[in-house]
Amino acid sequence: MQDTILITGGAGFIGSNFILQLLGRGSSSIINLDKLTYAGNLRNLQTVTREPRYEFVHGDIADRALVRDLFERRQPRAVVHFAAESHVDRSIRGPDDFLRTNVDGTFALLEEARAYWAELPEPDKSNFRFLHVSTDEVYGSLGPTDPAFSETTAYAPNSPYAASKAASDHFVRAYHHTYGLPAVTTNCSNNYGRFQFPEKLIPLMILNARDGKPLPVYGDGQNVRDWLYVEDHCEAIAAVLARGKSGETYNIGGCNEQRNIDIVQTICDIVDEVAGRAAAPRRSLITFVKDRPGHDRRYAMNASKIQRELGWHPRETFVSGLRKTVRWYLENEDWVRDVTSGAYRDWIATHYAP
Ligand code: NAD
Ligand code: TYD
Repeated sequence: MQDTILITGGAGFIGSNFILQLLGRGSSSIINLDKLTYAGNLRNLQTVTREPRYEFVHGDIADRALVRDLFERRQPRAVVHFAAESHVDRSIRGPDDFLRTNVDGTFALLEEARAYWAELPEPDKSNFRFLHVSTDEVYGSLGPTDPAFSETTAYAPNSPYAASKAASDHFVRAYHHTYGLPAVTTNCSNNYGRFQFPEKLIPLMILNARDGKPLPVYGDGQNVRDWLYVEDHCEAIAAVLARGKSGETYNIGGCNEQRNIDIVQTICDIVDEVAGRAAAPRRSLITFVKDRPGHDRRYAMNASKIQRELGWHPRETFVSGLRKTVRWYLENEDWVRDVTSGAYRDWIATHYAP
């Protein structure tokens, strides 16, 4: 069997970082199946467009004929499934696409993977992997002193996004349990780094700070997230793909809990330093706005299983990772200009309207 991996959603934030890391380090060939929604950006992958081990396929994971053809034609040894609608605020305003892609799309992909996998000869059949990339948000919200989420924490999704991801996780689990599909699921905390669409907290704040615009902090700014540098996440996925046990789930986190307000203040200080002081310190741009409905208070991940069993540890510290990220957004104006065109401006205007 050829060393080919089918990646879905590889033009998005994490998927494109993963593809670049994999092509740079390994010998696998990659097929990137991506619908190119507002969040997908082929510019992230422009350095590998001519790479013979890389093929881009424009399409929907829910298009079963297309997915079937890819399995038959390219005979992948694994699927790494990133494709999703991923923004909580958008899921609150319009959950339909979240059900369509995250639930129906994952189901379609699982069905085609199962049909393909069932016909594989041994040992290809046992070695096949369906790696499903999911989120810590399926576990719901923690109180200030609750222990971090572990792989055995009960699911309690609160947003339409989290509910759609939880549903997809359950289907993956069921396909392993019922049909024996060699599946693994990773549940990861908030990522940050290059190529993240600037609707998410960190890039939004960097760009607004750069431009002297208000920095909209939801509620009291005391919500806590466990932040992980995207390249550390990609290494964790590679470790699970290589050594993860079929049927298992692995929690991935940065052991790095931060309050939103602290992150935004730190971003202001780094932008002041890197881009030069504006008339007033950028902290003065911080504006507390109406809270997100159903806003989860705290997420924290217990990542001891992946650390113990697969030897993975995050390498980047938050201070250095955040600094690198701020510099990347400030130095890549063309990328920013590309993604902050019409559709992006419409979202910002609607979502942050007073
Ligand atoms: P993203 O929104 O940046 O990218 C998603 C990609 O999927 C885009 O390229 C988009 O075009 C593609 N896509 C969407 N619908 C599709 C469809 N129907 N068919 C094919 N492609 C489609 O997302 P991300 O931040 O890179 O997240 C990747 C995965 O990681 C998601 O499954 C998400 O739930 C999960 N995750 C993300 C984070 C985070 O902090 N970003 C944290 C934990 C888990
Ligand atoms: P986000 O990046 O949307 O990730 P998630 O909701 O998946 O955790 O948001 C991270 C945190 O930042 C979350 O608590 C909501 C908050 N937030 C703001 O305060 N202001 C904003 O403009 C955005 C986009 C998020």
